[in-house]
Amino acid sequence: MSFNALKEKGISIEKQLRTWHDIVKRPFNRVEVDCYTRTRQILMNGIEVEAWNFKHHFARTSDDIELNKIIANVRRIEDMQQTTVNWLTPSCQSVLDTTLGYEQVAVDLTAWLAQNEPDEYVKETFDFGLLEDFDHLYRYSQWAYMIEGNNPDDILHGQTDVVIGRPTQNHHNDNAIRLRKHYDKNTASPQTKVNILTLVSGEQQTHNFYAEHGFMYGNDDLRRTYAEICDVEEEHVSMYESLIDPTETMLEKLLLHEFTEVCTYYNCYKDEVDTRIKQVWEEFTAMEIGHLQTAAELIKKYEKRDPEEIIGTDIVMPCHFESQKEYVTNILENEIDKRLDGTSDMNYTIIDKLPENWQSYEVQESVGNDGSPTEQTVQNIKAAINRDIVCADKKLIKKQPELLEKGLEPEAQAPNTVSIDDYKDMTNIDIFVFDEKQK
Ligand SMILES: [Fe+2]
Ligand SMILES: [Fe+2]
Ligand SMILES: [Fe+2]
Ligand SMILES: [Fe+2]
Repeated sequence: MSFNALKEKGISIEKQLRTWHDIVKRPFNRVEVDCYTRTRQILMNGIEVEAWNFKHHFARTSDDIELNKIIANVRRIEDMQQTTVNWLTPSCQSVLDTTLGYEQVAVDLTAWLAQNEPDEYVKETFDFGLLEDFDHLYRYSQWAYMIEGNNPDDILHGQTDVVIGRPTQNHHNDNAIRLRKHYDKNTASPQTKVNILTLVSGEQQTHNFYAEHGFMYGNDDLRRTYAEICDVEEEHVSMYESLIDPTETMLEKLLLHEFTEVCTYYNCYKDEVDTRIKQVWEEFTAMEIGHLQTAAELIKKYEKRDPEEIIGTDIVMPCHFESQKEYVTNILENEIDKRLDGTSDMNYTIIDKLPENWQSYEVQESVGNDGSPTEQTVQNIKAAINRDIVCADKKLIKKQPELLEKGLEPEAQAPNTVSIDDYKDMTNIDIFVFDEKQK
């Protein structure tokens, strides 16, 4: 199937203003919604926030009033789209519920992108980040039970595993060594460019959501957990955005943003199972085709370039959601001890090969000096029910002590670190069974 968004018929910018009643739609049902309808909604909110924010950044660097007028009008549409998408969230969906949705996006989206990424180095970076968000999901799942009595599978629907990943206390790096080598804009495929922009948008929105909502709980350990993981999301934004070629012109970046929006909405439209929400993805695909064609005209006019040279002639599918358990387990078992090498190669190494003076040890010692909140999370659940909350097959659950042994740095451990022996004790106790009220 071929879909050249530059040639498809979209909605022109002048016809994109909608009424407030159309902008604010009826929310989905927290219990009945398909988990991947929720992940699409979460991701597309992040895509729209980036689309809006980028256009402000663009305007602040442009002294061309005619160009800025066009940007201003499209930017308002992005903002209205963002309201529509984000406000599909029902008011009864708690912050922790939504948080589990965010980490499900991170895990299953990153796994999908890694398997559809032509650039090996970019793929490796996706796999590296994957195991960190996977651990965040595990930590937040403990809180979903401790604070709200919820089963994480109420949100995840059994599609994404909940067990320990690379321990969050080891995600704190010298932010400078997070920076990766960027692709070359002249040789990288449109798929690579769209994949990265999709993930940057998702990670940025995750950061913003934690920054804006982590204070909404009274429990200090939970507040600190949000602060700790929010900071890791800042590292993720830094890492993924550094893959983008910074020499792309602003108009080239504009075109890539609109192309990413067309691709993601179209992918959502193709996959959506909720007929009412499918209509939103369909309408917004047509609106984004209008934005893309406007951006294409601008790049032809100002830079005398053919937009097809930048985005190609076919669409890419950057956000197909399906269960990625097998892929994630494989990365988990093989790459949990992977670390940033901190050298000018901007590459990866393993814990056993880290030098004594590795830059991130100092950061980890500084922030974890009074204890790591994400370790405290597991200390708290262990004190409450003798073991952790997990959702996975028994074989993987039993592997937790082994995974921790391989994935935890012996250096710079927080004083409240849950030990490998603690995990051995926990795996000897039957997993927690949620009662009928959770259904
Ligand atoms: Fe948009
Ligand atoms: Fe995360
Ligand atoms: Fe992340
Ligand atoms: Fe757009």
